[in-house]
Amino acid sequence: MINFTKHMCSLRSKSNLYFRPLSLYYKQNRYNSNGTILGIETSCDDTGCAIINGAGVLLSETLHSQNLVHLRNGGIIPDVAQDLHRTHIEPIVSKTLRNASLTMEDISAIAVTLKPGLPLSLAIGMKYAKHLARRFKKPIIPIHHMQAHALAARMHHNIDFPFLVLLISGGHCLLAIAEDVNVFKLLGESMDSAPGEMFDKVARKMKLRNLPEYAKMSGGEAVERAAAKATNPHIFKLPLPLADYKDCNFSFNGLKTSVFLHLKKKELEHEVVAHKLIPEVNDLCAAMLMATSRHLVHRTQRAIEFCHRNNLLPEKNKQLVVSGGVACNNYIFNSLTMLCNEFDYRICRPLPKLCTDNGVMIAWNGLEKWRKNIDIIKDFSSLDIEAISPLGESLIPEISEAKIPIKLIKIKMNSTNR
Ligand code: KG4
Ligand code: ZN
Repeated sequence: MINFTKHMCSLRSKSNLYFRPLSLYYKQNRYNSNGTILGIETSCDDTGCAIINGAGVLLSETLHSQNLVHLRNGGIIPDVAQDLHRTHIEPIVSKTLRNASLTMEDISAIAVTLKPGLPLSLAIGMKYAKHLARRFKKPIIPIHHMQAHALAARMHHNIDFPFLVLLISGGHCLLAIAEDVNVFKLLGESMDSAPGEMFDKVARKMKLRNLPEYAKMSGGEAVERAAAKATNPHIFKLPLPLADYKDCNFSFNGLKTSVFLHLKKKELEHEVVAHKLIPEVNDLCAAMLMATSRHLVHRTQRAIEFCHRNNLLPEKNKQLVVSGGVACNNYIFNSLTMLCNEFDYRICRPLPKLCTDNGVMIAWNGLEKWRKNIDIIKDFSSLDIEAISPLGESLIPEISEAKIPIKLIKIKMNSTNR
């Protein structure tokens, strides 16, 4: 590792911690090729930065979450998210370098999320990455946010390509085969909203945030905690979405509407006022979680069957990776584990803090690309952000055509694994 004192001596000013005097820079002007990657993430409401060295060791990471601001506002307001990214990006990158005892000259390339995401948020990461790259003559490695979620599990688990991956977050629900670092085959996607978005909206409508224990949590986490206290979730009957569609796509709007209707009915029945919650709130959370898990298992079961029929995964690669913020959910993960047990699949997910948005997965994806010499862009002036971007080539028409029938496995959960 670089000597910290030596580098502190060459710092230009306290506020510009990663700048060395220009004269020194031009004298050395070395192109650092040891594979140390600085990753920047600003696709939604988290400003993240991390540095990973060429051996894959995480040297430092910094994350600024805007969650509390958006909880107060009742959702993400893009202008507000952009302002917060703008305020925090410079100090966060500085802090990450400082904590790793590195300067920008020790960095080989800057990996930055360019797609998909909120345009105003993505733009801040891109502009800052370009500014650093220009100033320090570094290449940029453009990162697809959902591919980064998919590959994050490879940082701590032994997972070879190809593998099956389920990406469940606040903005996406995708089922795919990861064939290589930048080659994905899409098997299924959401027709409307994402599971995290549904949890966030329902948690808000249920007023979970009014209970101090949930006040600082994301909607999904609050729903999981409340569901763990349920005593009788079966009083609420919720549908299995897309039950008659023989593909691997997802839908959460119908489920969300059903939960809202049950909520409304209970609020009327109990004459619930203003800031109060319905007494059955834990049971309704559990019912929603169970229905969501059933839906995710159902579609993933068909994907497993499709891969089997078409020899898409060799026997030794029967493995499912689950990632994205909603992958933190133990009930959902345990349900998918039961599915995997049934079909002899291994299952894994990144560490919880790497399931939700972070800079580490961006730096890691950058390193995976660096090692394979993919997407290392030296002339980056024309690089731009994309709000929407496919994960890879779609096999969805082939899956629909195959009309594979599925007898949904039984998900038997007890109170300890709920
Ligand atoms: O991946 P992520 O950090 O951001 C996106 O790319 O969307 O995912 C955030 C989502 C939020 O909707 C949040 O409610 C959900 O992940 N989430 C959870 C849990 N923790 C976070 N959903 C269910 N159970 C959890 N424990
Ligand atoms: Zn994400």
